[in-house]
Amino acid sequence: KCLLGYTKQFVKCGKAGYVMPGAFRNHAEAIYNLQVRPDDIWVITFPRSGTTWMQELVWLVENNLDFKKAKSTPLYQRFPMLETTTQIPEIAFDLIKVNFMNLGNFQGLSKAARVPSWQSIDEAPSPRLIKTHLPLSLLPPNLLNTAKVVYVARDPRDVSVSYYYLHKMVGKTLLRANFTHFWEALRRDLMPYSPIVAHTNEAWCKRHHPNMHFMFYEDMIKDLPKEIRGVSDFLNKNYNDKEIKKLAEHLSFENLRKNKNVNNTTNTNGEGIQFVRKGEAGGWQAHFDEKQQLQAEEYLIDRLQGLDLRYPSFP
Ligand code: A3P
Repeated sequence: KCLLGYTKQFVKCGKAGYVMPGAFRNHAEAIYNLQVRPDDIWVITFPRSGTTWMQELVWLVENNLDFKKAKSTPLYQRFPMLETTTQIPEIAFDLIKVNFMNLGNFQGLSKAARVPSWQSIDEAPSPRLIKTHLPLSLLPPNLLNTAKVVYVARDPRDVSVSYYYLHKMVGKTLLRANFTHFWEALRRDLMPYSPIVAHTNEAWCKRHHPNMHFMFYEDMIKDLPKEIRGVSDFLNKNYNDKEIKKLAEHLSFENLRKNKNVNNTTNTNGEGIQFVRKGEAGGWQAHFDEKQQLQAEEYLIDRLQGLDLRYPSFP
């Protein structure tokens, strides 16, 4: 039973049984058959894994460090999300329309915003930058052999905490849920896009593919300039130390937090929680009680069994 009140609309998709809102049924096939282009760049993540951070990084690397444009255009316009609607009006910035990608729920959206994003992405001129939380197996099968993909993984324990705060930030529907509900959702693989380890493992298995750049959020926290260099090499861009430093500054937690085109925190419930929230690796420790810590260990050991995937924070 879904703790967050959404199960009645959920479907399980693909071999791993990924948890998707019911409306995904209406779009899954079109998304699977989307025409991938050789000059596409896709950023794929499980939600709350540093997607936004990576999108801003990739956009700037790809667009010759055009800070001026980056600072004047919202990220969701420069780097649209596949499984949502065309526009994300500020008022519609809630988990139904954005995070839970309920493509069927167009209530309250303007006409222009009712176009599913995959449709406008399909019609968009090249080169396209595309964000998605869908796992590789629900995306076009020729994706990796055709376009470049950046995947960011994060410790599932931190993901559960971050997810909790996101929902607290957008409020309304979930005000009754506490952190334990969110942890339970994650560990029972009921959170949208779950199971998280299977999601990450799909990309991990392709990490040596020349079109896959696999990264960990924790490594970005540890050494951002190094990770920027990695992405630049992957995208065949060459920046000097000074440029990398400038980009790292732009991407710092403090600066992204102040950046209204990235930190879209317009629809809060008044508690002051922001989309770019804490930016820590290991923050889960302050939220998990002893029992949850043990559960988390068991969960990770169980899900990682038989895989060679390991998290830097759970080796
Ligand atoms: P926290 O809630 O743990 O702080 P996504 O974009 O996939 O939803 O991921 C959001 C998470 O990335 C949030 O984690 C957010 O604070 C973090 N994040 C965003 N920008 C960051 C930055 N510049 N440095 C560190 N973490 C960042």
